[in-house]
Amino acid sequence: MKIICSKDYIDMSKKAAAVIAAEVIQKPDLALGLATGSTPEGIYANLIKWNKEGILDFSQIKTWNLDEYCGLGKTNPQSYWHFMQEKLFKHINIKQRNVHMLNGVNPNAEQECSNYEKSISKNGGIDLQLLGLGHDGHIGFNEPTNDFPSVTHQARLEESTIIANSRFFGSKESVPKYAYTMGIGTIMMARKILLVVSGTDKAETLKNVLEGPVCPEVPGSILQFHSNVVVVADCDALNKISFESK
Ligand code: F6R
Repeated sequence: MKIICSKDYIDMSKKAAAVIAAEVIQKPDLALGLATGSTPEGIYANLIKWNKEGILDFSQIKTWNLDEYCGLGKTNPQSYWHFMQEKLFKHINIKQRNVHMLNGVNPNAEQECSNYEKSISKNGGIDLQLLGLGHDGHIGFNEPTNDFPSVTHQARLEESTIIANSRFFGSKESVPKYAYTMGIGTIMMARKILLVVSGTDKAETLKNVLEGPVCPEVPGSILQFHSNVVVVADCDALNKISFESK
C-alpha cells in the first residue's frame, strides 16, 4: 500500500487526479470505477481542466460508478446519476454509452445488481477504482456488518451515513434508506484502487482502515489485503497514522 500525504484538500485533489490521469494516458480505454460524495469533487474538477487543455482524452474511457440511491431516478437532482453528469461527465469528452451506473428506480434489486456485476465482468473488470471513505469506515455503501458482502447488492444505510449525507438533501428524512452498491468483492477485484480521504473528522477512521485489524466492522480495512492500493490523503486525515506507515 502506497500512502501519499498531501498538504490540504486542494493538493490531495491534484495528486489523486494525477494518479488517475497517469492511468488514462497509459491505457486510453481504461475501465474506471468512480465515486460520488464531497471528496472526489476536486479530483473531477482537475480531470475536467486537463481534458479541456487536451492533456486527457476520455473518448474511449468506460466508467462504472460504485453506487446509487434506491428510488432516485436520473432526473432527481440528488441522484448519483445527476451528480456524476454535473460534476464530471457533461464537461468531458466521454461517450454516454460508456457510462455505467446502477439504476436506482429498478425495483428488481436482484436483476439490477446481477446485471451490473455482469456488465463489469463482461468488460474484463475494473482497472482503477476510486474510493472515498465514510466516517463509519464504509466504502461504496458497504456499511459495517458482520461479514464482507461480496457482490453488487442492495444495502441499508446506517443512521450515521444518513445523517452525513443529509447535507445534500436538506433533511435527514429525505435521504433514501437503501442503495444499490458494488460489493466488497466487486471492489477488491479492481486491479488498482485509489482511496482518497480528507479532513480531521476522518482521521480516526483512516487509522482503523490502515492500521487496525481487518474486520467487517470497518469495511475499508479489507483494503489491507489488496496488493495495489494508493491512498492519497491530506495531513489532517493522516494525523493519527504512525510515522512508520506514512
Ligand atoms: C460514494 C460512496 C461513499 C462515499 C463516502 C464518503 O459513491 O460510495 O462511500 O465515498 O460516503 O463521502 P464523502 O466524500 O462525501 O465524505
